[in-house]
Amino acid sequence: MMNARTALTLVLAAGEGTRMRSRQPKVLHAIGGRPLIGHVLAAAGRLGGHTAVVIGPDHADVAAEVKRMTPDAEVFVQAERRGTAHAVLAARPAIARGADDILVVFGDTPLITPATLERLRGALGQAAVAVLGFRPADPTGYGRLVVEDGQLIAIREDKDASAAERALTLCNAGAMALDGRHALALLDRIDDRNAKREFYLTDVVALARAQKFSVVAIETEEDEVRGINTRVQLAEAEAVLQRRLRQQWLEAGVTMVAPETVFLSADTKLAPDVVIEPHVVFGAGVVVEEGAVIRAFSHLEGAHVGKGARVGPFARLRPGAELGADVHIGNFVEVKAAVVEAGAKANHLAYIGDARVGAGANVGAGTIVCNYDGVTKHHTDIGKGAFIGSNSALVAPVSIGDGAYVATGSVITENVPADALAIARGRQVVKENGASRLRQSRATGKKQDAKAAEKI
Ligand code: UD1
Ligand code: CA
Repeated sequence: MMNARTALTLVLAAGEGTRMRSRQPKVLHAIGGRPLIGHVLAAAGRLGGHTAVVIGPDHADVAAEVKRMTPDAEVFVQAERRGTAHAVLAARPAIARGADDILVVFGDTPLITPATLERLRGALGQAAVAVLGFRPADPTGYGRLVVEDGQLIAIREDKDASAAERALTLCNAGAMALDGRHALALLDRIDDRNAKREFYLTDVVALARAQKFSVVAIETEEDEVRGINTRVQLAEAEAVLQRRLRQQWLEAGVTMVAPETVFLSADTKLAPDVVIEPHVVFGAGVVVEEGAVIRAFSHLEGAHVGKGARVGPFARLRPGAELGADVHIGNFVEVKAAVVEAGAKANHLAYIGDARVGAGANVGAGTIVCNYDGVTKHHTDIGKGAFIGSNSALVAPVSIGDGAYVATGSVITENVPADALAIARGRQVVKENGASRLRQSRATGKKQDAKAAEKI
């Protein structure tokens, strides 16, 4: 059901992420083949409403990723990193424009779900501020939620907390919802009188209470609010996401023989009755249609697999691989930027790149499409029902007509008309007793015998 209230979601992403030890801004590190900030933007996008992102200076690449994911998102730069409330206020023009509900989320907390954001937002019915809380296995470093009689009265940052407050187990996950009518006035009251000399967004809680507004905490699971500061946490979040994606596709009617060995991307699309054998990796941009079977140890990326197709074991589909219905791509076959039409087969050891393979064509073992001349890539066209004999090289640009037949071991450099038979290889020479003569010459090392052997 669509919420009639308007929403503004602020994504804070100006942090430096020094603990990642990376040249790349933290929020551009990926899980499930998608940058961290992309996951947050996807969740925010599901709420409807407007999105604004706060980034650090020199983060043009973050701005570009934001625009790619959410073209109508507004991007603000926080010139100096002076705390979470300071970051929120970097988006002052968006807040001042007004929205019924204002949500603040962190760009480095990618596992948050739209359902939880919706729950947080829903609490604004009764409260001016709602804070997402969780009970981490180790609360060190998190702000503690101080709750009294069902009201959240304060958030105490770890560095500022008393021993008694540190013993509290309910912690601040970082996501917050604010009533748009009061947000700006409350935010403007926050100061930097604390251990870190930062403007803490968390201070909004005590300020709202001081004005007798209701403030509540909404609880969620730790797995949903894992913040990422290090590569270890990045790997842990990846594991959580993979479990979630596998579960989602199993429930949607996909068979995975050993789901824990299958790696999915956030944008992977699998139809019902797809079967995935163990140890398959889905890079970004893969769609698999109904009933297709992806056999063990295959790697797919930017590929479309048609209904009932069979891929692998040990197949590699690279970006632009478009397999029609019932196509068979077998072991050690690589397909890149190629349309393989319905029912075509390449069952063993082949490279098909920058090509079209017509319906029902058969590409024999060891066939190589030589698409690259060292400078440019060229196109190869294989007609419908054509037969390419094993160990052939098709030197692009070249086209093989419908129903044509290329003899085994051919090196095809010129077009083959429809229904033609092309034989492009050296003739076979047979010398009677040649084998024993050859062996003799090797054994004696005599000059005349060596000469005789040369003739063989
Ligand atoms: C923050 C919370 C803490 C909570 C924890 C959850 C505050 C004061 N503290 O602490 O209560 O338990 O998150 O993970 O809010 N950012 C900016 N500009 C800044 C500072 C931060 O954009 O000047 C962004 C960061 O990129 C990050 C987020 O805000 O996405 C959180 O900042 P961080 O410094 O990691 O806050 P914590 O100390 O972890
Ligand atoms: Ca943090």
